[in-house]
Amino acid sequence: MPRTRASATALFVPRKTSRAQQRSARSEFAEARRQARLAEAPAERGEQDGFDPELRATYPPSGRPGPASARGGKLSLPKHRMTTATASGAYPFLAEGGLGADGIFIGRDVHSEGSFCFDPFSLYSSGRIEGFTNPNAILAGIIGMGKSALAKSLATRAIAHGYRTYIPCDPKGEWTAVAQALGGYTIALGPGLPGRLNPLDAPARPTSVSADDWANEVRKRRLLLLAGLARTVLKRDLHPMEHTALDLSLDLAVAESEARGSVPLLGDIAHTLGSPERLDAALGDQGGRMGPAAEDLAHALRRLVHGDLSGMFDAPSTVAFDPKAPMLSIDLSRLGGAGDDTALVLAMTCASAWMESALADPTGGRRWVIYDEAWRVMRHVGLLERMQSQWKLSRGLGIANLMVIHRLSDLLSAGDAGSRGRVLAEGLLADCSTRIIYRQEPDQLATATSLLGLTGVEAQAVAALTKGRGLWKVAGRSFITQHLLHPAERALFDTDARMVLAA
Ligand SMILES: Nc1ncnc2c1ncn2[C@@H]1O[C@H](COP(=O)(O)OP(=O)(O)OP(=O)(O)O)[C@@H](O)[C@H]1O
Ligand SMILES: [Mg+2]
Repeated sequence: MPRTRASATALFVPRKTSRAQQRSARSEFAEARRQARLAEAPAERGEQDGFDPELRATYPPSGRPGPASARGGKLSLPKHRMTTATASGAYPFLAEGGLGADGIFIGRDVHSEGSFCFDPFSLYSSGRIEGFTNPNAILAGIIGMGKSALAKSLATRAIAHGYRTYIPCDPKGEWTAVAQALGGYTIALGPGLPGRLNPLDAPARPTSVSADDWANEVRKRRLLLLAGLARTVLKRDLHPMEHTALDLSLDLAVAESEARGSVPLLGDIAHTLGSPERLDAALGDQGGRMGPAAEDLAHALRRLVHGDLSGMFDAPSTVAFDPKAPMLSIDLSRLGGAGDDTALVLAMTCASAWMESALADPTGGRRWVIYDEAWRVMRHVGLLERMQSQWKLSRGLGIANLMVIHRLSDLLSAGDAGSRGRVLAEGLLADCSTRIIYRQEPDQLATATSLLGLTGVEAQAVAALTKGRGLWKVAGRSFITQHLLHPAERALFDTDARMVLAA
């Protein structure tokens, strides 16, 4: 044992000493004892127990010794209390209660590590989230990040909750396998294929709607369809006389077909438009001649009747809408020509018109309508108008619409600021209470930030998202969620198979 230790084990203070001498002797003894302990091996200092009461705050000797070290002492800061809503202004991803366990399992909340479930209908009806005003959703992300896989999971898992899913337009044909696996069906349209859809089909009248109201609704939908088709081919807005010509020819064609006991076809409308004397007679003494106005329209519809789309949309439908099927998709993959996509847009207009009127029954239960690859739609005002009217009807019909696009700037491609297309596209975004943002390219972050009102932290998070991981903005709340796929889903939803085979 070192000498210092021996000299520090006892304190002898002679009896006749002053108080000052006693104090000084005691402090010398304390210092000698401290030095002795520092010189000891750690084991002898009692560190084998992991506890050295005397030196625990200052060993190794660094910083200030004693209470001034602030180690183990109490640090008192002024209290500051705020709600999580306020704190989320600075940092949005607070690990709080999430959206609850109601609804469809999506995956894992990356920050809270809990499950993330989502059901737009229960969120809407419970009123739990302030500002959640509609069940519609937008999903944006760069190619291959798993947008379609998420939409397919939503559809697949929603079936267990009693929902049905409709895909009015599947330009890649990737929903066919999913629909078949779930007991639904697909209508494939394209040159040489046997499928036919008559977009002027009138669906069965829902019991809750009066006959007159239903007749008006069907007429309105047919006119919207005809105007959309004409505008797509003519690439311009219709003149008032042209709208009148469409009205008249629709009424004449419907009267004729009802007399025959059948449903009017696009060919019947084109034929009536090609007979201006009949339109003039129907117009009566209201003035004007329909000839020149009807001529352009007749040519516009000709493409669907005699042109490259002939046969597909101007014949009686080969399938009836089955409201009990869990999923129905319309496969337009055979139409996806390069360059001018007018044929695809016309087909999309007809297919979505057919499906949307079949979905007009408000007692048809809760449904998802998924517009995959909706970025293709953005440049076509007619299609945007269709979507807008579906969006507006969503709550009344019990339909949640999901629009899948690549970038937020796809919405801006609808037209210049203030144009009709742009207003429609921005209106669609405004009517989506749920916004799911998958990874965006760095040059897209500014647009995403301004259109969605992202905070700096959210924009940073979006730039770094990996496959299947998205920023979910549900009304005012934000979550980063990892979508989890079951192995069976993964096999069914795989769109990379060809890439793997080619490697
Ligand atoms: N959460 C996930 N976990 C694992 N694999 C996933 C996940 N999401 C998607 N994938 C796989 O990634 C591939 C691409 O996904 P998907 O087709 O859904 O991407 P996308 O964003 O729709 O692409 P595109 O923009 O080309 O349509 C698929 O093979 C899919 O199985
Ligand atoms: Mg996709």
